[in-house]
Amino acid sequence: MTTTARAHTNIALIKYWGKRNANLILPYTSSVSLTLDDFYTDTTVAFDSDLTADTFVLDGNPQPAPKVSAFLDLVRAQAKLNQFARVTSVNHVPTAAGLASSASAYAALALAASRDAGLSLSSLELSRLARRGSGSASRSIFGGLAIWHRGEDDLTSFAEALPETRLPLRMVVVMVDAGPKPVSSRQLMANTVATSPYFSAWVENNEQAAGEMVNALATADFTRVGELTEQSSARMHAAIFASAPAFTYFQPATLQVWHAVQTMRAQGIPAYATMDAGPNVKILTLAPAVEAVKAALPEFQDRLLVAGPGPATKVLEEAR
Ligand code: DP6
Repeated sequence: MTTTARAHTNIALIKYWGKRNANLILPYTSSVSLTLDDFYTDTTVAFDSDLTADTFVLDGNPQPAPKVSAFLDLVRAQAKLNQFARVTSVNHVPTAAGLASSASAYAALALAASRDAGLSLSSLELSRLARRGSGSASRSIFGGLAIWHRGEDDLTSFAEALPETRLPLRMVVVMVDAGPKPVSSRQLMANTVATSPYFSAWVENNEQAAGEMVNALATADFTRVGELTEQSSARMHAAIFASAPAFTYFQPATLQVWHAVQTMRAQGIPAYATMDAGPNVKILTLAPAVEAVKAALPEFQDRLLVAGPGPATKVLEEAR
């Protein structure tokens, strides 16, 4: 059997930052995200009794596969299967966007591998499985808006789709720097938990914000959706900055974009900034305002991408 699945990346409106169980990837707080249309990963998995090890090829280049193998071990255990697999992935994410994420990677791998191993998992079960590869991948199983419930344990920590909002949400991605990440986000996340005196405040506030976000989306209150989005990101980065050693993903141009977003709002343009584990800024706005947002960033004209809501993870092809 050979199975190919496609998963789209997602951007968190309410961020996930901090694991209370690193092995099971159980988060300190719930998070809320928007799956994006243009950025996705296609992954093909073939379990094969002739193989003597797992193999992994990413964008045409053979890669060492310890993380992929560890993830496949979870699938093998669930399926009671004793075979290695050939894994091939292609990222359809503009590499310069800094969006190449583990979210689409592990969501696609969870679906392709589980199906190829003969399992037929529900979306909830797929989300729990994808979570074990990368926390944010739990949300990419779903299209549009999703909430990852922090849960109490492995069984209760999974994402699910939120009702579609009436808001025509768009993300304008501003590519500040396309270079490689200076610090692995996984390591930095653990260090924030261990050393930032602001971490407990972040947890308390962000869990409440997740609940508020669900209401703001349901009532199509874009101002509140935007405020909560910007605050969750700003507070996450504040907690990171306060870690020991102090660290920030902000670059001069990152700050320039945040200021531009403040100016946009002062001019009546609905725009709110959010950032993940890198210096690029994503501006949350509404479809009718996209052109105004772009026009307000004259220095970044050749470094803008616009994305809208994208679909759920799906099987593209199954061959015997
Ligand atoms: C800043 O899901 O990449 O993008 O679970 O260690 O693989 P691991 O982390 P990952 O972290 C994403 C953090 C974030 C915020 C978010 O997507 O919620």
